[in-house]
Amino acid sequence: MSDLTLSKRAQTIGDSPTLKINALARALKKEGKPLIHLGGGEPVFPAPQAAVDAIIAKAQTRKIKYTPSSGTPELKAAVAQYTQTYYGRTPAPENILISAGAKQVLFNFLLATVGPGDEVVFSAPYWVSYPEMVKLAGGTPVVVRPARGLQITLAELSAAITDKTKAILLNSPNNPSGLIFDEAFIKGVVELAEKKNIFLFMDDIYHQLVFDGNKCPNPCAFSRNGQNLVIGNGVSKLYGLTGLRIGWGVSENKALISAMGRMQAQSTSCNSDVSEVAATAALLGDQNCIKELCSLLEQNRNVLVAELQKIPHVTVHKPQGTFYCFADFSRYHADSQLLAQYLLEKALVAVVPGKAFGMDGYLRISFCADQESIVQGVQRIAVALKNLL
Ligand SMILES: Cc1ncc(COP(=O)(O)O)c(C=O)c1O
Repeated sequence: MSDLTLSKRAQTIGDSPTLKINALARALKKEGKPLIHLGGGEPVFPAPQAAVDAIIAKAQTRKIKYTPSSGTPELKAAVAQYTQTYYGRTPAPENILISAGAKQVLFNFLLATVGPGDEVVFSAPYWVSYPEMVKLAGGTPVVVRPARGLQITLAELSAAITDKTKAILLNSPNNPSGLIFDEAFIKGVVELAEKKNIFLFMDDIYHQLVFDGNKCPNPCAFSRNGQNLVIGNGVSKLYGLTGLRIGWGVSENKALISAMGRMQAQSTSCNSDVSEVAATAALLGDQNCIKELCSLLEQNRNVLVAELQKIPHVTVHKPQGTFYCFADFSRYHADSQLLAQYLLEKALVAVVPGKAFGMDGYLRISFCADQESIVQGVQRIAVALKNLL
């Protein structure tokens, strides 16, 4: 009998560590354990009413069908309006691709641009999916590590660009560090991509979730013709609508958006009819929910940072956005995987090991939970850590 072997691809692509933690946390909670989940990646906020009303109205039509593969005209119009508001550009429908989350936008982008031998450059700490998605597309991930702190410099990024580089991925504010790349950096990266004729994928999924009056620099402002630049975004983080699975990619490069659309048409065909209607309603509805979310997250950030600063030997970089704090716990354990496992077992607190983001010794602690959980969770961590010194 011949062996039922899996593909090389299946053997090399790993699980998503964050989704694994979520599953573990859910299982422990189900067992009745008083687990505190500080590993999550979604705001606890309820869905905007406009989105809920739209879902109900759509369901009542009893017409839930395939939609145009690259997105409905209504949702594309709402995305065009959003792009005008935040980037000062109004993309035509052919310059927009609606996908099942920003994740599928990025995947379509990689499938459309990257082949064997091509390198895709991004900085550590990185979102856990970047290396695996680049590998899935057949490319080679190239990780740029900051010599100091949690942010690379333009010189460090430039030094990683070779003849094989096909694209740069940039996420700001960054998951997991919560830090925003400043204007000089963004301008430099946009210009670098144009000079070297490589693509730049801006992962802007958290671009409005910023604190202390900070603003994310607009990459479009520095682009000469927009051909190299793609902006990925979505409703998951801004509106707490992670379950809708709606994201979008916008680029002035029509051939690129069209190629990304073909990748999608041959995989998922189109997006969920119900989700597209709900995302349109969220984008066109009352936007105060984003301000409210930001202000709640800023308070949560302050609470978390204050609690973490009470723990000796932990280095905290104050997040400027997102809902993650990436703190250095290496004085307690160099292996973040083992440390996270220890905290899960001994303190019943779920956090994500820095190793998953390309930086061992760190832990990613989310502050999208409620404040009581944040305080209690960090206090439990502090107690458990005492045994390790
Ligand atoms: C940096 C980053 N990019 C993209 C995504 C994917 O977002 P979506 O839910 O829209 O697929 C996430 C989700 O955690 C993220 O953290």
